[in-house]
Amino acid sequence: MRFLRYLLLSSAALLPLSIRAAEPDALAFFEKKIRPVLVEQCYSCHSADAKKVKKLKGGLLLDTKAGLLKGGDTGPVIVAGKPDDSLLIQGLRHSDELRMPPKSKLPANVVADFEAWVKMGAPDPRDGLAVAGVRVFDIEQGRKFWAFQAPTKSEPSKQKDTAWPKSDIDRFLLAALEAKNLKPVAPATKRELIRRVSFDLIGLPPTPQEIDVFLADSSADALAKVVDRLLQSPHYGERWARDWLDVARFAEDQAHTFAVTPYTQAFRYRDWVVKALNDDMPYDRFVKLQIAGDLMPDAPADPFSKYTGLGFLGLGVQYYKNTAALQAAADELDDRIDTLTRGFLGLTVSCARCHDHKFDPIPTKDYYSLAGIYNGSDLKPRPIASDADVERFKQGETKIKSKEGEIQKWLGEVAKKTGKKGIPKEQENKLLSDEEKKQIAVMRAEVEAMKKAMPPKPPEVHVVVGGGKEMKVYIRGNPNQQGEPAPKGFLQVLSAKDAKHGDSFNRLALADAIASKDNPLTARVIVNRVWQHHFGRGLVGTPSNFGMLGERPTHPELLDWLAVRFMENGWSLKKLHRDIVLSAAYQLSSVNDPKNAEIDGDNKYLWHFNRRRLDVESWRDALLAVSGKLDRTLAGPPLDLAARNNYRRTIYARISRHRLDSTLALWDFPDPNVTSATRPVTTVPQQQLFVLNSDFVVDQAKAFAQRVQATGTNEKDRIAAAFALVFGRAPTADETQLALGFLAAPPGKDEKLTRWEQYAQALLGTNEFMYVD
Ligand code: HEC
Ligand code: HEC
Repeated sequence: MRFLRYLLLSSAALLPLSIRAAEPDALAFFEKKIRPVLVEQCYSCHSADAKKVKKLKGGLLLDTKAGLLKGGDTGPVIVAGKPDDSLLIQGLRHSDELRMPPKSKLPANVVADFEAWVKMGAPDPRDGLAVAGVRVFDIEQGRKFWAFQAPTKSEPSKQKDTAWPKSDIDRFLLAALEAKNLKPVAPATKRELIRRVSFDLIGLPPTPQEIDVFLADSSADALAKVVDRLLQSPHYGERWARDWLDVARFAEDQAHTFAVTPYTQAFRYRDWVVKALNDDMPYDRFVKLQIAGDLMPDAPADPFSKYTGLGFLGLGVQYYKNTAALQAAADELDDRIDTLTRGFLGLTVSCARCHDHKFDPIPTKDYYSLAGIYNGSDLKPRPIASDADVERFKQGETKIKSKEGEIQKWLGEVAKKTGKKGIPKEQENKLLSDEEKKQIAVMRAEVEAMKKAMPPKPPEVHVVVGGGKEMKVYIRGNPNQQGEPAPKGFLQVLSAKDAKHGDSFNRLALADAIASKDNPLTARVIVNRVWQHHFGRGLVGTPSNFGMLGERPTHPELLDWLAVRFMENGWSLKKLHRDIVLSAAYQLSSVNDPKNAEIDGDNKYLWHFNRRRLDVESWRDALLAVSGKLDRTLAGPPLDLAARNNYRRTIYARISRHRLDSTLALWDFPDPNVTSATRPVTTVPQQQLFVLNSDFVVDQAKAFAQRVQATGTNEKDRIAAAFALVFGRAPTADETQLALGFLAAPPGKDEKLTRWEQYAQALLGTNEFMYVD
């Protein structure tokens, strides 16, 4: 294995790794889970106000960041990253040393939130002194913020270099580059380009044959041909569905440790998304079917297409309802509002659950106007079959039940007649006469025959339907303290001034309001998500927060141009991809340029392409593609990712909120409890151990070695074949020499793998394989 380690370490050392912290999420966590508890449970004894009235306890101020950091009479109360060493956590756990709050222990989930928060490093956005949070709301003023203004198509400003741009996308980008004295680097090579665009559009590497065809094609539209082929591939939907599933916090069960109710049919929603993308379903329709497929007058007739999208919210997070039913219902509503508004609108509406939104023009009342639309609705499986088929199945079930009831009754009568107490099935043989045994056998045969004649149980999907009971504002988010009524309706800042609120505002009205050309956010948010996945960064760097606390767009006119064009193109995602990947900007090399880097080190202005690590799905799928094991079957029930011989694409792995697969977790898969917009790229030593030791990688290395060895007997040719499959290029003379030497040496005594297998594993473990230029 020494050779392998050498390769891994040497290539790792060369790479700058872009590690992005999940800052905005951490702060949102503080606001939602930590601050409210501090305010309600701790400030009475640990705040400036408490100090004023001489009630400060333990010398500890918890109402400012400074106070929290300083700690109390006995010193610091938090050790960032280490909940077990933090006095504050010990207090919350009611340890022997400290019991906080003194009167009663907070619920276990609240304590767990604090532990998670300390683990994150105790992020705390409170700077300065505590402010009294009174703000007068002015929706009209709020509308002036850029994100609430309708996008408009404008002309790019003049650029000096007229040769570089291939399209308006480039003209916008170049104008901004030139304004900053930046110059685009050289274009990528064709080899880089086909690898880049293949991973980007279908999440799989190009085959050596595909590369050869592209290299040999010198026509002007050679790349366009590749792009069209990829967009037609059914693997396109698999690749891009996964990005949507991150937003939809898709999962197939619940996080609780007991009474986990799995969503056994969740995979149908996943398959519905894949199919919608492959069919290039207009995005506005994609949105509507996920909110109100059951209510749309123009919904598709077939039940699968009509209902399955409702899994977007139907697969949501559920809470225990046994102790605090109202609170659980409120938390479930919050999951829906959060996923819906961050997902479709890029707005953090659930920050308005307890108080008016502190930054965006979203009053608490708006939150409850939205929540009312889902208030009292049911999360349940719904058959996807025609009404007639569903009815037939139900009748069959009823008939069988009644026949079984008859048998029970008959047995009861026999028992009564003969003075027996009862006749349990074990003892029928002993207790029944021969004649009675015959009779019961006939009846049972009838039941069996009925069961055989039953139509198959219609498949089901998980949906949210019904409900829509107007709510009152929950004061400070407390369901037991209700204020003024909040008639159902849409966010005021996104509605016309005279928009109707009230009982008729149902899910369909909500779907229409979101998937509307007049909604300034919906198109912008999705084109920005697509842009992010192509370039590694959105034009708005916070794709699920277009509000005041989110980032401003780096290229506002380009974002608007893309959004308007997207709508003009019938909300076609495939056309959007095509526009983006055929731009000159997308086709730039990923090389560095020191002069540019000095001005724009983060490459916000896209003077070069961002080299990127493959996400876990593409990486695992690529390993399978290269080893020759990839099972390309589409759709169907999930498999455990860890199952030996699971060679299907990673999107078909079971996704658990309760226990996320360890490989997914290791490679930055997002927490499926909440909607997620970007994946961090972390680098931890366990990842290298995985490459070295996991059964999965070793299995693929063996298969890959076998595949390559089968191509011929000449060692040099085999090495070339291996490079073509893994990297899409020929080996250099040095690389060939190095490989020949390694392969020729006899294996060491303790080596379990053949030399070829070790070499295969080394190639698969390289950064060159894991990164895309
Ligand atoms: C009713 C008053 C009261 C409330 C409410 C309260 N505390 Fe305390 N706290 C105290 C007292 C009194 C002490 C002093 C130590 C002791 O007597 O246990 C203290 C001490 C502490 C300390 C140790 C400080 C030090 O350096 O010794 C921590 C940490 C702490 N509290 C955290 C909290 C947290 C977190 C909350 C809210 C979840 C909270 N407390 C709520 C009364 C309170
Ligand atoms: C579960 C209830 C709850 C939720 C959800 C919530 N907050 Fe708060 N927040 C509070 C309470 C309680 C306070 C303190 C009292 C107040 O200022 O209204 C507070 C205060 C604040 C303050 C301090 C304002 C000031 O004037 O001092 C900010 C800023 C804030 N929240 C932001 C947010 C953001 C951003 C979100 C969403 C990510 C959010 N909150 C979600 C309960 C909540």
